[in-house]
Amino acid sequence: MEEKLNKILEDGKKEISNSKDEQALLKLKSIYIGKDSEITKIMKNMKELSIEEKKIVGSLTNKIKNELEKCIKAKIGELSSNVISKKTFDHTLPVTDSKGSLSPVTIVANEVADVLKKMGFIIVSGPEMEDEYRNFEALNVSKDHPARDMQDTYWTDEAKVLRTHTSPVQVRSMEKYGAPLRIAAPGRCFRNEDLDASHENTFFQVEGMVIDKEVSISNLIYVMKNILKEIYKSDVEVRLRPGFFPFVEPGFELDIKCLICNGNGCSRCKNSGWIELCPCGMIHPEVLRMSGIDNTVYSGFAFGIGLTRMAMMKYKINDIRMLNSGDIRSLKQFGIE
Ligand code: DAH
Repeated sequence: MEEKLNKILEDGKKEISNSKDEQALLKLKSIYIGKDSEITKIMKNMKELSIEEKKIVGSLTNKIKNELEKCIKAKIGELSSNVISKKTFDHTLPVTDSKGSLSPVTIVANEVADVLKKMGFIIVSGPEMEDEYRNFEALNVSKDHPARDMQDTYWTDEAKVLRTHTSPVQVRSMEKYGAPLRIAAPGRCFRNEDLDASHENTFFQVEGMVIDKEVSISNLIYVMKNILKEIYKSDVEVRLRPGFFPFVEPGFELDIKCLICNGNGCSRCKNSGWIELCPCGMIHPEVLRMSGIDNTVYSGFAFGIGLTRMAMMKYKINDIRMLNSGDIRSLKQFGIE
């Protein structure tokens, strides 16, 4: 009997030390010391042995059982520490892969923010999951307003929306800071789009807003020209066309003279000589009033620049889906570091 038990111990130890993963060890545990194991059977049959034998076999089985249990635990510990040490990031290792890089959208967003900061704008942000009131109503888009159709919206169960534009940050800023005000709010927006090379359900804008006494359309044009001059590093000619957005009155589409053909017409500007760049307008007095600003004293203007579009123009990216793909090769091909 003693021999048999020692053989079990020997075999068990060998198998345990050879096993490669926790799964295998748990199986061995059940084979060697589980309820159908040889050891358990021996223990169960102990009553058939003489008192002398019981003493010897009893203590030996216990010893062997404990020992096997200990070996299994130790091996599990060893295996898991191997896994951890393989996964652990070693800060002392030399860098073998290339450096990380900012996304084209982040680069453009930082550039625009820097320009706006120099002009006295503060950079603010708002939540990507917005309430319906700030995304729509407070911007003069009531529940049944047809303008809601222009923005196919993702709704959550709690009647929140994934903001469809950065304009709700206008509302949050007016509520928080009052007037006068000069804010810029870069951020991510969402609309339910069928994806293709020029449509994404996730895109970036930067919202700008200026509120002060006696702000006029010429202030809007002046500020926009300056911003664009800094961004494009050259004088840009702009024109305003009427555009409708419920939160501005009058509302405009601002175009810049095509920088590629200097207004003569090329494929980039579809031979029109102009490129549509950003919607803007004088803030609707109702929008000011709803957020607690005295519209008899203050007026202002606002604009929304499409950062995704700007990044695509700057880096000549022709498929918008690439920007959210997370594929490192897409960054590398533009040599962005
Ligand atoms: N929020 C609008 C959109 O995404 C764009 C916009 C238009 C923003 C006019 C403005 C503005 O600040 O004045 O469709």
